[in-house]
Amino acid sequence: MQHRFIFKQYSYNYIIMYRELLMGTDSVSKIRINDLLNKMTIEEKIGQLCLVNTTGGSHLEALKNNLKDGKIGAILNEVNPDVINELQYIAVKESRLGIPLLIGRDVIHGFKTIFPIPLGQAASWNPDIVYEGARISAIEAASQGINWTFAPMLDIGRDPRWGRVAETLGEDTYLISVLGAAMVSGFQGTKLNRKDRIASCAKHFAGYGASESGRDYNTTNIPENELRNTHLPPFKAALNAGAATVMTSFSDLDGVPASANEFLLKQVLRKEWKFDGFVVSDWESIKQLSTHGLTPNDKESAFEAANAGLDMEMASQTYSEHLFALINESRISMQQLDTMVSNILGIKFRLGLFELPYTNPPDFPELVNENHLAAAKEAAIQSAVLLKNENNVLPIVKESVKTIAVIGPLADDGYEQLGTWVFDADERHSQTPLNAIKEISGEDVHVNYVRAMESTRSKSSQFFSDAIDAANNSDIVVLFLGEESILSGEAHCRADIGLPGNQVELIKQISATGKPIILVLMAGRALALENIVNDVDAILYAWHPGTMAGPAIADLLFGKVSPSGKLPVTFPRVTGQVPIYYSQKNTGKPVTPETYMHIDDIQPRMHQVSVGNTSYHLDTHYTPLFPFGFGLSYTEFNYSHLVLDKNEIHLGETINISAEIFNKGCWDAMETVQLYIRDVSASVTRPVKELKGFKKISLAPGETKVVSFQIHTDDLSFHNRKMQRVTEPGKFIVWIGSSSNAELQSEFEMI
Ligand code: BGC
Repeated sequence: MQHRFIFKQYSYNYIIMYRELLMGTDSVSKIRINDLLNKMTIEEKIGQLCLVNTTGGSHLEALKNNLKDGKIGAILNEVNPDVINELQYIAVKESRLGIPLLIGRDVIHGFKTIFPIPLGQAASWNPDIVYEGARISAIEAASQGINWTFAPMLDIGRDPRWGRVAETLGEDTYLISVLGAAMVSGFQGTKLNRKDRIASCAKHFAGYGASESGRDYNTTNIPENELRNTHLPPFKAALNAGAATVMTSFSDLDGVPASANEFLLKQVLRKEWKFDGFVVSDWESIKQLSTHGLTPNDKESAFEAANAGLDMEMASQTYSEHLFALINESRISMQQLDTMVSNILGIKFRLGLFELPYTNPPDFPELVNENHLAAAKEAAIQSAVLLKNENNVLPIVKESVKTIAVIGPLADDGYEQLGTWVFDADERHSQTPLNAIKEISGEDVHVNYVRAMESTRSKSSQFFSDAIDAANNSDIVVLFLGEESILSGEAHCRADIGLPGNQVELIKQISATGKPIILVLMAGRALALENIVNDVDAILYAWHPGTMAGPAIADLLFGKVSPSGKLPVTFPRVTGQVPIYYSQKNTGKPVTPETYMHIDDIQPRMHQVSVGNTSYHLDTHYTPLFPFGFGLSYTEFNYSHLVLDKNEIHLGETINISAEIFNKGCWDAMETVQLYIRDVSASVTRPVKELKGFKKISLAPGETKVVSFQIHTDDLSFHNRKMQRVTEPGKFIVWIGSSSNAELQSEFEMI
């Protein structure tokens, strides 16, 4: 059937190729775009700005008619390749100008083969893992006719109450920038017109992660300096990596919702960054401008969005309903409309859609094939973070256990291990931890499984006695707890980020058996674990690991491979500490061990004085439970010999900073070496520490490696009070280590 559509386009394609050879792809696209613009009616131009949802398929007939009339430029949420090919056929062959469609879908961490949630992938601290996940997702999605994904999400994830932290690449500007760029390259490759590549979308521009109180869609308060230093760089990095499109945020910034924000879209994106792709709204976010209270009606919403430079409208129809009138009234100019259309057509040309709009699934590797599963397993392995391992309870030595109790609602649930945004996944592909543990244990070890709770939210303790019996009758207990998929993701925010339901009670009761307990946690966010951390011997934090959760976790538990994940976010002790992140400002009164006093140590009727007061909460410790960048291994690494090749640098120079890492244990293992820098004094306050480089290396037992980082003075730059990007002279402190608590320290001066 598909072959019917793959017409004899070849002769036409040859003419294009010849022209491109002579003139360059961009110039040819520009000529072709202008050719089209000259032929298009206003209605056809507006059609290109409309991204229409096809969910449910009920509007399919109406949609086809609109396509014939050139009233739709892009669709989202259609995944049936036959339907997609048919729609492309109508657009290309039955509409007047034959402009192909963009076919969008949220391919966030896998299409059919599901990789760890983005926050989990970030814990791998490995751009190759992120690249490979996106590359495979692109192949699988493209095989079905999808040519555009709404990823990567580049928002800063500093508030774990926010459900969408699951979709972020963590809390840190630099880490997100590196991994976000890797994801863009994975989706797009170097040639976007290859049939197995899809366009990416850097979202949500900008500031969405700062939604107040971690409540989704909430307003934000981000001073411009903070916006430029913290929130914008990952977007710039994604655009430098070639991201074809940008999506606006649902939130407002400085009183103006992102979808109508001229400062973001015109000033930053187009003027300063020279972005030449197109900007799409978020779901109905143009229509929502009036819900925000920015506009009185849809027509004004369309005006504000178009005027701010938003090219394409997702789901709502304010453009299709009102732009024509706005143009007739000369409130939106033809030139503005042409710019919007040509931004979109430019991406259609870059994708090669005019040459090959159709897909032919048999031309692609099979979905969920062995290679894809192997990559998903490796990603899940490298994402898991070992947070605690007392008395080396891990890895489990098969020969020394006869019975293992596997307990918990997440041990054998192929759906819940997948996480948020898995519209196209089929849980029948999932390999669960229970099955993998049974397989790896072999016949000599008995596995005693008790689900114990219906879901992670269950309040009942009805089956706890079965779990305790299983624990009592086993040598070791592996608990699979955390959060089901639905507790994170869009609009799934929590005010209390402790373990939900009756899980704490289950842990306490099992802990009372005195058996060694390994807690495997799956979750879409950092959880506050202080109330159970001492009740278990080991904690392996697996996030939502995806299709291959089982084999990955089993390999880690049984020591086929050593854990190598590092936290991409700070883990608070209790919810009230959030937002807590390592790159905080020093304040004028930073806490010290000497000034810290716990609530329990305060004498009754004690005088209140301001002298000596510092910045902390009385009722918890001032440190987090686990710092950013932290993660244990089965081996131990020794850091030494921090060497700087100079003590002073001038503007424009590079400094080489290195350290020696020695594997003093007896495991082959990977380690992420992290470089942090502090700009001690500047014209605006700077963070106490900022990640400036990291390298994931492998070390054999007894092996030493020297890891070097080259830091250019541009890497030390920031936006000053006038919002200029500057590097200021002064002292810089440098740390290299295995987490943001890195201890090896030195300093240099920029003069
Ligand atoms: C989300 C976007 C997503 C879009 C399309 C919105 O609700 O905020 O991130 O890409 O839906 O599904």
